[in-house]
Amino acid sequence: MWEERYSAEGDYLFGRAPAAVLAENPWLWQGMGSALCVADGEGRNAVFLAGQGLEVAAFDLSPTAVARAEALAAQAGVPVDTRVSDWAGYDWDRQVDMVVAIFVQFVGPDDRPGQFADMARAVRPGGRLVLHGYRPEQVDYGTGGPPSRANMYTEGLLRDAFPGWQVERLAGYDRDVDEGRGHSGRSALIDFVARKPG
Ligand SMILES: C[S@@+](CC[C@H](N)C(=O)[O-])C[C@H]1O[C@@H](n2cnc3c(N)ncnc32)[C@H](O)[C@@H]1O
Repeated sequence: MWEERYSAEGDYLFGRAPAAVLAENPWLWQGMGSALCVADGEGRNAVFLAGQGLEVAAFDLSPTAVARAEALAAQAGVPVDTRVSDWAGYDWDRQVDMVVAIFVQFVGPDDRPGQFADMARAVRPGGRLVLHGYRPEQVDYGTGGPPSRANMYTEGLLRDAFPGWQVERLAGYDRDVDEGRGHSGRSALIDFVARKPG
């Protein structure tokens, strides 16, 4: 399904600019040396962070998306360690300062604990997790994301998902999003930023 969406005619599905949460909050990545952008599609978030001087790795299961990520990195003149990989095939023991997960709500409640555990493993002790996604209200907006409330995040769900982590930001909010044809219009968003115990 994703490969089909990325192969369809048109510009970058979610645009070339990073998610606003990264662009508008430099404190998230300042002082970080390395980052992993999980399921980063066409690389908009990875390329942005590489442009800020971080050593960035990124993966996605869609070969077309990863090829476009490589083109975006080349255009920006920054190195990004890209790979085509399914979530399960990624080496989660390879630790980084920061794991960035932007709109990775392709799993439901059964698989989410495993997905969160994988990301937690890839954050070095004292490092940071940045999670940005949709709240259940997004299904009514219909402006992006899967049509499943069960896949969405609530503040309570995220607060409970990473026990012992120092929460630096947990905020639900609505805003107009303009991220290519994939995400466009009023959206019910949520940010979760937390530090792994050192
Ligand atoms: C909503 S898009 C977000 C892409 C990117 N994070 C961004 O913000 O532009 C979700 C991404 O998850 C990828 N994806 C879906 N299931 C996956 C899986 N099992 N393993 C790896 N990537 C997956 C898709 O190919 C797609 O690029």
